Amino acid sequence: MENNTEPKIPYVPGLAGVPAAESKVCDIDGQRGILFYRGYAIEELAEKSTFEETSYMLLNGQLPQKNQLDQFSHDLVHHRRLKYKLIDLMKTLPESGHPMDALMAAVGALGMFYPHINIMNSEERYGATVRLISKLPTIVAAWARMRRGDRDVLPNDKLSHAANFLYMLNEQEPDSTHARIFDQCLILHAEHQMNASTFSARVTGSSLADSYAVVASAVGTLSGPLHGGANEDVLDMLAEIGTVENVVPWLDKAMASKRKIPGFGHREYKVKDPRAKILQRLAEQLFARYGSTPLYDIAVKLESVMEERVGGKGIYPNVDFYSGLVYQKLGIPTDLFTPIFAMARVSGWLSHWLEQLENNRIFRPNQIYVGSAPRNYAALDRR
Ligand code: COA
Repeated sequence: MENNTEPKIPYVPGLAGVPAAESKVCDIDGQRGILFYRGYAIEELAEKSTFEETSYMLLNGQLPQKNQLDQFSHDLVHHRRLKYKLIDLMKTLPESGHPMDALMAAVGALGMFYPHINIMNSEERYGATVRLISKLPTIVAAWARMRRGDRDVLPNDKLSHAANFLYMLNEQEPDSTHARIFDQCLILHAEHQMNASTFSARVTGSSLADSYAVVASAVGTLSGPLHGGANEDVLDMLAEIGTVENVVPWLDKAMASKRKIPGFGHREYKVKDPRAKILQRLAEQLFARYGSTPLYDIAVKLESVMEERVGGKGIYPNVDFYSGLVYQKLGIPTDLFTPIFAMARVSGWLSHWLEQLENNRIFRPNQIYVGSAPRNYAALDRR
């Protein structure tokens, strides 16, 4: 049967290479391993910027003047606290649940406390944006404490976004090295062009749903092991390998069973991810100061063997390969790695949301129907 609705454009699984938007937010050169946020190189931002400044720049398109940064930072501090009812709601969630599910539930519920935002009004959009960036760390830290029976810790207004998260998690102010390295991790994860969770954010935003629904849907997409969840898998894998000597036999087995190696491969990068290079340096900085871990030697060996075997196919370490080692050294529990990714990426998601709204058209792609031809319904006793 002829299908009049059959699309003229061929089906591309995973929409690989198909543009889903025109965007000014982020650019990647995957062949050369280059990443820019609004034209600024990731290496320079990681070295010189802060998460607050990078977020402002992502949301607004340019680096802030001092007074603009002061105002934005002040607003972020001001909105850190959670309604007690949101804390009560989180207390009712099963402690054994994954923190990403708790985060998705809490962000979805957050929208109920700030309903009826007029997303066409720029001030209301700003308020919703600041609240989300500001409150995600409070939710993540509160959940991490409450699930083990500890009280949540109120934010400390004197601390930066990064330092305050570590403080709320541990009830102890981090030293300046820990705080700065964590700040750099947040910068590195803040944005990455049209990845799956950003696409989710844009799709949800295109229906004119509010920013809380936008971020809740993006958190759900980020939770999968092919996206944000890979950094947890990397540490499990390194522990499973156990020793440097076991890297080659372990990899032989894994490759024979066609297992995908977590922390390797990327749809865009065909060389080592520039963020992985920076994260490796941050890990080395931490290990030099506070002592190394045997898992790092295993990781380095695995990277070199993987390069020999699959480097030719363009499979190299991605952002998740070294981030887990950094977070582990900062004393962060493994299952918080992906929620921390969300705490950073929320700035990118919201930048895309704002851009989507500037020139919105609801996403409604087509499909290629491969199902049954029209047929008659048969009664139950005649099938
Ligand atoms: N380990 C081993 N082989 C891998 C690999 C990995 N991590 N990633 C990709 N490959 C291989 C595939 O088996 C495939 O080989 P083939 O052509 O011989 O069949 C080829 O490389 C292309 O992979 P494909 O899965 O089609 O790439 P993709 O662009 O669809 O997927 C990822 C990209 C990130 C989903 C994929 O690399 C992956 O699953 N990586 C592990 C999970 C991870 O680290 N995710 C975090 C991403 S930031």
